Amino acid sequence: MSENRDEYNRGGMLAFTFSIVFCFAFFFYLVAVNKGVDLGENVIDPNAPVAEGATPVFDITKVEEPWVATPEMVAYGQKSYMTNCAMCHGNQGQGDGAAGAALNPKPRNLVEGKWTQGEGIIAHYKVLQNGIKGTSMASYQHFKPAERWAILHYMDSITQNKSKDDPAKVAEFAKTAE
Ligand code: HEC
Repeated sequence: MSENRDEYNRGGMLAFTFSIVFCFAFFFYLVAVNKGVDLGENVIDPNAPVAEGATPVFDITKVEEPWVATPEMVAYGQKSYMTNCAMCHGNQGQGDGAAGAALNPKPRNLVEGKWTQGEGIIAHYKVLQNGIKGTSMASYQHFKPAERWAILHYMDSITQNKSKDDPAKVAEFAKTAE
């Protein structure tokens, strides 16, 4: 009886020691080794080579009307999409990202665009504000509004079910939206 308990304690102690050591090692890895995840707040690389004739650096914080789709916004949005959404929604938006494979419900195929939260860019903006409850689609409220508009302009450029929202309504909404 007492022998059994000793055995048990030794095993327990070993497991305990191992988990402590593992925790410290993992902590060290996170703090000192791992470079962390770029949440894409700033996906423009200022040192990237600039194509001839192009605007040198596109600064999204200087865009006055980010709710208006421009080629620069779409290009910026694509980069941000690749960093922040592609792992679930796929590189081409087909809903086939590696991180989305095991999810239930699966990430939406954005190209097909069978929206469940309402049609149009205003509805999509609200999805990024609130996420979709009970699914892995999280809120992107921590992204600056301009960043979210850029991603949505890119999304609208690849989807077959494009936004039919009236630009004046979008502008009106954007001015009050957080
Ligand atoms: C962790 C995986 C994951 C990431 C990352 C992710 N999504 Fe989703 N997304 C989902 C899932 C899952 C759904 C489907 C939820 C459902 O079926 O209700 C979804 C649904 C959507 C929809 C459909 C809304 C509708 O009306 O049907 C849009 C639009 C969308 N995501 C955009 C984005 C954008 C833009 C990003 C990046 C900023 C992003 N998602 C990042 C998992 C993800």
